[in-house]
Amino acid sequence: MASVSRLIRFAVIITLLGPFVSLISASPTYGNVPSPKYPFASPKCRHPLIRKDWRALSASEKKAYIAAVQCLGNKRKAKSISGIPGLQTRYDDFQGVHSVQTPNIHWVGHFMLWHRYYIAIYEKTLREVCGYRGAQPYWNWTIDINSGKDMSQWPIFNNNTGFGGNGVYIDGENPFGIPERSGGGCVPRGPFAWPKWSVNLGPGSSLDYNPRCLARDFSRPMMRWATQELVNWVLDVKKYSDFAYRLENVPVFTVPNVHGAGHFGVGGALGALGDVYASPGDPIFFLHHTTMDRMLWTWQKRKLPARLYDVGGPIIPFDYTGPNITLGFKVGLGKLAPNVTLAQIMNLQGDILCYDYQ
Ligand SMILES: *[C@@H]1O[C@H](CO)[C@@H](O)[C@H](O)[C@H]1NC(C)=O
Ligand SMILES: *[C@@H]1O[C@H](CO)[C@@H](O)[C@H](O)[C@H]1NC(C)=O
Ligand SMILES: *[C@@H]1O[C@H](CO)[C@@H](O)[C@H](O)[C@H]1NC(C)=O
Ligand SMILES: *[C@@H]1O[C@H](CO)[C@@H](O)[C@H](O)[C@H]1NC(C)=O
Repeated sequence: MASVSRLIRFAVIITLLGPFVSLISASPTYGNVPSPKYPFASPKCRHPLIRKDWRALSASEKKAYIAAVQCLGNKRKAKSISGIPGLQTRYDDFQGVHSVQTPNIHWVGHFMLWHRYYIAIYEKTLREVCGYRGAQPYWNWTIDINSGKDMSQWPIFNNNTGFGGNGVYIDGENPFGIPERSGGGCVPRGPFAWPKWSVNLGPGSSLDYNPRCLARDFSRPMMRWATQELVNWVLDVKKYSDFAYRLENVPVFTVPNVHGAGHFGVGGALGALGDVYASPGDPIFFLHHTTMDRMLWTWQKRKLPARLYDVGGPIIPFDYTGPNITLGFKVGLGKLAPNVTLAQIMNLQGDILCYDYQ
């Protein structure tokens, strides 16, 4: 990989690390109660999908989700529609759109909201293209960390009912000094082992068709950044722009942040999830980011409806003194979905989005 792309990767990483954190208390008013009790729901959202933690899904729900993800990644069943040359599958569309937009969607005010929309369209595609009937699950890492169990024993990494575990250990470069990296090679078992699953784009920003195994490189110390204290710290702000800042924080490996915990705890130095551009090649990407979306919703719910209208943070990465995003700011997913304004996606049960969290 060229050194420039390594630098960019480093910067991105830092962003990812930004302390992300979370949801402590459910509000007694809106708590986990789906509409119609939620008073700000659009008439267009009568039956929100209820997103659950991976561990809360039944065995058959887990199986159905994994089958749908495999379906999106199966090029015989589906073909790219994003218009990015070289892509082979509907899953590649998502990896490609993330890769193309990586320089504009990290360390900006719309980081979380872009990903909110991205996940919602992914969830919609799983349902519409692959017949999935459930909601996008999330992964509450803090519960696993607090269990005291080894990462290989965590439900999400189960070989049979989860996403498979660590990659086999290989020696390799570790330019950012990820501590205790322990894999780096191909994930040997489970539904995403080669050749059942193939990561087709990357490494880095390359959009060339480059099918290869899914690699993971667990780092226990990085994973353990995602503590409840860190989650609480992110949530403990009054303004959206501060929430957005704390989620990503400063891009260095010495400052814990929840976003980076998932990316580098699982992806380490050599795994797909640690690759800023190509990270959606590991399907766990979507569960990790959905947890952060749940954090944002937790923060919003603490003050409704005010926090349905509060946005801020830089338009240009790291430009903290320059112009801020506003509700009229548009985000898009290339040809995958219509562009939307931030105002349209602030509400989980609005005219565009229709889901809630358990
Ligand atoms: C994880 O679960 C714990 C226990 O239910 C909860 O307190 C915490 O807010 C959850 N974290 C996230 C990020 O959802
Ligand atoms: C999953 O499979 C790998 C490779 O065979 C093995 O090393 C690991 O122990 C298995 N995990 C569990 C939890 O059994
Ligand atoms: C953007 O918002 C930040 C934080 O509220 C503020 O300090 C900054 O001055 C704003 N930028 C502009 C150009 O107004
Ligand atoms: C979304 O906006 C971008 C930038 O303005 C534009 O190039 C693109 O064509 C729009 N996409 C759609 C699907 O309208």
